[in-house]
Amino acid sequence: MNLLLLGRGKTGSLVEEVAAERQHHVRVAGAKENVSCAALAPEKLRDIDAVIDFTAPHCVLANIEACVKTGKNMVVGTTGWYKDVDHVRKLVEQHKTGFVYAANFSIGVNLFFDVARAAAAALRHDYSGQIFERHHVGKKDAPSGTAIAIQQVIRQASAQSEGLEITSFREGEVVGLHEVVLESSADRIYLCHDAKSRRGFAEGAVRAAEWLAEKKGFYDFKDVWREL
Ligand SMILES: NC(=O)c1ccc[n+]([C@@H]2O[C@H](COP(=O)([O-])OP(=O)(O)OC[C@H]3O[C@@H](n4cnc5c(N)ncnc54)[C@H](OP(=O)(O)O)[C@@H]3O)[C@@H](O)[C@H]2O)c1
Repeated sequence: MNLLLLGRGKTGSLVEEVAAERQHHVRVAGAKENVSCAALAPEKLRDIDAVIDFTAPHCVLANIEACVKTGKNMVVGTTGWYKDVDHVRKLVEQHKTGFVYAANFSIGVNLFFDVARAAAAALRHDYSGQIFERHHVGKKDAPSGTAIAIQQVIRQASAQSEGLEITSFREGEVVGLHEVVLESSADRIYLCHDAKSRRGFAEGAVRAAEWLAEKKGFYDFKDVWREL
């Protein structure tokens, strides 16, 4: 595939590596090449099959709008824009493009969502829950998109609209650590996912772009990763 990657930061640079290993042609645009979405002008996207975004919360929505309006498929790893998810879904449907997003593209975290979903039954049996997330000091949004997704999964599965407070820590070089602690007067359950590197995110995002080829529609990776 011909891929345009937005962002050559910590995760974007690994996406470039993984995409090249999987025999794709990758063009990369960082902040300088994409001022006012310049890298997403229609003439720049003519030969591109899909755009992958690992940039920053301040610019991701503008990137999404420019890409979708040009009719191109898109995979978005950048977090911090989910209050606009309904707006983006409508835009994707209106322009009949393909779109996959995830707060976390690693297969392990998506399995962890299922573990958390199963454990949600505890909240109907006198357990209270808390979520803790730890990331490197450079992470721009808090709480993490993954922590919010875990909270949503457990709340939906236990039919509760509140509880499960998220506590965020920003320290050192932590790639991404998420813990769910469920506590009753009798015992305590710990669930933990600890990312060892960013490689899992990059592989998931590239495989999502491959899966999306020739497809239209708006997809959350946690609903489609089993089909990869
Ligand atoms: N979904 C997932 O699996 C997953 C996994 C990891 C991270 N993330 C999310 O992905 C995003 C990036 O994370 P990261 O750790 O890679 O951050 P990072 O190291 O700070 O990299 C972000 C990159 O985006 C570039 N950038 C900023 N504005 C841009 C624009 N308008 N157009 C193109 N590039 C632009 C920056 O370029 P300059 O250096 O030139 O300023 C920087 O290199 C964050 O939102 C993070 O939460 C998601």
